[in-house]
Amino acid sequence: MTVEQQRTSSAPIDSVIEERRRTNRVGMLHHHAFQARDMEATRHFYEDILGMPLIGTWVERLNPVTGQPDNYVHTFFETNDGSCLAFFQFKSAESAREASLNKFANSNPFAHHIALTVNGKDEIAYFKKRLTDHGIAVFETDHGYCYSIYFHDPNGMQVELTTHVPQTAEMMRDASKTAHEMLAQWLAEDDVETNNRNRGAGWVKA
Ligand SMILES: [Fe+2]
Repeated sequence: MTVEQQRTSSAPIDSVIEERRRTNRVGMLHHHAFQARDMEATRHFYEDILGMPLIGTWVERLNPVTGQPDNYVHTFFETNDGSCLAFFQFKSAESAREASLNKFANSNPFAHHIALTVNGKDEIAYFKKRLTDHGIAVFETDHGYCYSIYFHDPNGMQVELTTHVPQTAEMMRDASKTAHEMLAQWLAEDDVETNNRNRGAGWVKA
């Protein structure tokens, strides 16, 4: 079934989604990589606070970008589906800072953030408390199609934890039918009304 056929199909939504994903040749997130300012602080944050185990540490002595001898470490912290957040740290703090996206300043969520899934609002509340107990500022927002908290890691990278909500399946089903039309309309017009009927609270400090 082509994407166009899926958009106009009357097949049950589960089978449409199953077919859409079955025919997609790109799989789950392998890893997302970012620069670490302090790898031990990063390990503490992801492993001890968020509970994502460190499953690999690679020491590299050749920089594949420059082709020159170098010295950096590459770590992987695992989620419960086997995908990872990865981090680099060079021995030279200056090299790490220069290679970083944000120079270790807290990133604006529109510039960059990474979102990970948790299972339900109770888990959102669990992590909100856990993070605030560790002195980490947490913001939350109700997207309508999901519910999220946001915070910065020790490297200034913004992390989002988000959960599906009861209306997620219906909203995403409807969105998938109109995604191309909405994009074309927004690109063509200057003042398009929101199509997010369930958007809730904005950026609220937890
Ligand atoms: Fe997000």
